[in-house]
Amino acid sequence: MTIDKSYNDWANTYDTGENKTRDLEEIVAKQTLDRYDFTTVLELGCGTGKNTQWLAEKASSIIGMDFSGKMLLKAKEKIKSDKVNFQQADLNKPWDIKDNYADLISCSLTLEHISDLDFIFSEGFKKLKPKGKFFVCELHPFKQYTGTKARYETENGIIELEVFTHHVSEYINSATISGFKVLELKEWFDNNDETAIPRLISFVFEK
Ligand SMILES: C[S@@+](CC[C@H](N)C(=O)[O-])C[C@H]1O[C@@H](n2cnc3c(N)ncnc32)[C@H](O)[C@@H]1O
Repeated sequence: MTIDKSYNDWANTYDTGENKTRDLEEIVAKQTLDRYDFTTVLELGCGTGKNTQWLAEKASSIIGMDFSGKMLLKAKEKIKSDKVNFQQADLNKPWDIKDNYADLISCSLTLEHISDLDFIFSEGFKKLKPKGKFFVCELHPFKQYTGTKARYETENGIIELEVFTHHVSEYINSATISGFKVLELKEWFDNNDETAIPRLISFVFEK
């Protein structure tokens, strides 16, 4: 199944099924972005709006992009704010967003489905204002090396999605080639147990 079809299939249960990665990511995004000021936000792969909802409390304008119509439908059901607009679009194609629009780009649990990071960072660089921040939080590649993938349960069993492994160096190199500098790189563990393999990796880049 293609990635967008898989997310259409997952949309009804994405918010409610047990999902340690989703839950830890929300904590990471909140803890990280609490420390930054922003008013205009571009959210890549906003999904059902898990993060859009609280980002909208701080921002004055948000565009959430996603290619899954059903994930966006869930987001629209939950978020009724005139600050928030959703756009159905494939992030692998040029983004229909004004240059210098955002002072924050936020991208959670989405880049594992994107093969070409260079394209994402180069589009992101154009869409950010000078000194704008690009927050990324993803399943840690160490976790991916052990075989962990985005997956969901259906009546017919577990469905695993198509994913790409991006090494830590790839994130850093791809972002810096586009002109970003690295402000933060953090690793996040289940129950703060640093003897285990980290579940998530997060970055804050600056234009
Ligand atoms: C795991 S969900 C994460 C949703 C949300 N960011 C969160 O943290 O809960 C990944 C999202 O990325 C979207 N996505 C994946 N590849 C995409 C692409 N090429 N273009 C647009 N959206 C994409 C999926 O449709 C899905 O909604």
